[in-house]
Amino acid sequence: HPHVASKRVSIVHNGIIENYRSIRHRLEALGHRFSSDTDSEVLAHLFVEAFDAGMDPSAATQSVLAEIDGAYAFAVMSTDYPDMLIVARNASPLALGIGDDACYIGSDATALSHLTRKVVYLKDNDYALVRATGVAVYQADGEPVNREHVIVAASQGLVDKGGYRHYMEKEIHEQPDAIAHSLAAMTDKNGCLTARMSEKKLREVEGIVLLAAGTSHYATQIARYWIESLANVPVVCEVASEYRYRQPATASYNLAIAVSQSGESLDTLMAMRHAADCGMSTIGLVNVPNSTIAREANTVLPTRAGPEIGVASTKSFTAQLTVLLCFAVALARVKGQIDVARANAIHVEIQGLPGLVGRALCLFDEMRPVAHKLSSAKSALYLGRGALYPLALEGALKLKELSYIHAEGFASGEMKHGPIALIEDDIPVVALLAADSVMTKASNNLREANARGGKIILISDSDAAVEVDYASAVITVPNVSSLLSPILLAVPAQILAYLTAVEKGTDVDQPRNLAKSVTVE
Ligand code: M6R
Repeated sequence: HPHVASKRVSIVHNGIIENYRSIRHRLEALGHRFSSDTDSEVLAHLFVEAFDAGMDPSAATQSVLAEIDGAYAFAVMSTDYPDMLIVARNASPLALGIGDDACYIGSDATALSHLTRKVVYLKDNDYALVRATGVAVYQADGEPVNREHVIVAASQGLVDKGGYRHYMEKEIHEQPDAIAHSLAAMTDKNGCLTARMSEKKLREVEGIVLLAAGTSHYATQIARYWIESLANVPVVCEVASEYRYRQPATASYNLAIAVSQSGESLDTLMAMRHAADCGMSTIGLVNVPNSTIAREANTVLPTRAGPEIGVASTKSFTAQLTVLLCFAVALARVKGQIDVARANAIHVEIQGLPGLVGRALCLFDEMRPVAHKLSSAKSALYLGRGALYPLALEGALKLKELSYIHAEGFASGEMKHGPIALIEDDIPVVALLAADSVMTKASNNLREANARGGKIILISDSDAAVEVDYASAVITVPNVSSLLSPILLAVPAQILAYLTAVEKGTDVDQPRNLAKSVTVE
C-alpha cells in the first residue's frame, strides 16, 4: 500500500475483494496494467476507469461499490480531485474524525483520538467524500445520509508505554485497574452485581451462545463453567469463524453474547449478526466503546480495560473474565439459583481481585530464570483441568504467538487419550493447578507427565503447590476460591509468555503475521 493506477489514483484498503479475479481479467482485457497480485489493486483501476468515463467522485464510488463483493474499508486519492479523499466501508471498520480545520480517517477512534474526539462511524455500504472542511456521507445508491457525530471518551486516546519496555508489560501491570473498573461497570447503584439488562429479560434467558475468537474465545470457555454451574443455564461456546457457516441448530438458545476486545473482529461481528438473524437477542461484551459490535448489539457489557495496544491480549482478557463472572452471578441471582448471601460473597471476592492481581505482578523477577530455560525449548505443553483447561489453551496461545515456540494446551485428563505420546525427556509442561475439587486428579495427571520425562512448571495457588513435590519450577499466587482462580492464574501465565519472548528477542508488541484487530475473514 498504497496501490497506484495510471499515476492518478492511489488507494489503501483493509479487507478482501472476493471477486477481484474476474474484475482484474475484465480490466486487463481493456488494457489496464497491474503491478501487484493483490485484490486491493483492482480498486485503484476501477476508480481510474470510472473517472475516465467522466464520472464525478460520487458516481465513480457508486459504480465501484456496485461491482465489488467482499469486506472492505478503503480510501482513495486522485490527482483529479486533490482536495478530497473518498472512503467507503462494508464490514471492515472505518471512522472519520472531524477536527477544527481538518478531517481525518482511521480504522477506529483510537487511531484518531490524538487529533480529534469528534468521530463519525460509517455504516456498512456507506461511502463519504472527505475534505478538510467536512465530510459528506452517502449510502451506496448515492442517497445523502446523516450519520451521528459521536464524541469519544478521552480515555480512548493513544497511550505511551509509561516507562515500561513494551506495551504488553504495561498492560499486564494495568490489570488491577482494568478489573476494578470493569467490576464497577457491572455494579448497579445499589452496589449489587448487574447484568445491565432488565430482570424480565434475564429471566427469559433459556440458553446462551458465546461467540468469540482467539483469547476472547478462551474467556468464553471459562465463562461457560461459571454460567452453567452458578445459573444452571445451558451455554455453548462457538469459535466465531465457524459459527455462521455450520448451520447451527439454534432453537435452544435465545441469547448470544459476542465477546471481543476490539469490537471489530469480523468473524465475531458476523457471528453475532447471524445469531440476531436467527432471532436471538444480542449482547456485545467489548472493550472499545462505539465499536461496530457495541453499536449493533442490543445490550453492551463494557470491559473498562482502557486501550490495549500490544497485539497479545492481556488486560482485556482478565477484564472480560471479570465481566463474565459478574454476569453469571447476576443471572444466577435472577434465576433463583443462588441466594443474596452467595451473590454477595462472590461479589466481595471479586472486589479483592485487584489487590491479589497486584501481588501476582511481583512475580516478574522470580519468573525470569524460568522463562530463560523455557526460551530454549522447541515445544511446550500447557495442562489444566476444569475452568483451568481453557486457561491452559490461552497460556499456550500466549507463548506461541509471542515467542514462536510451539505450544499446545490440553485438558489434563485428556493426556492419556493421546497427547501423552508427546511427552519426551525435558519437554516443558506448564501446569495450571488450583486447590479445587479436581486438584487431586489434575495432580495425578501431572505426575504421569513428569514420570515420562516432562519438566513441570507449576503455576498454582499456595494450597495446591503444597500437593506437588515433583515440579522443576513452582510459581505461586495467593489462594482464592476456585471461581476466581482462572483470573488470578492468568497473570503468571501472561508473565511467563512475555518474559520468554523478551529472552528470545521477538517483537513482543507486534508479533510476526499478526494484527491487533482482525477485520477480515
Ligand atoms: O478483538 P477481539 O477480542 O475480537 O480479538 C480476537 C482475537 O483476535 C484476539 O483475542 C487474539 O487471539 C489475541 N490478541 C491474542 O493474544
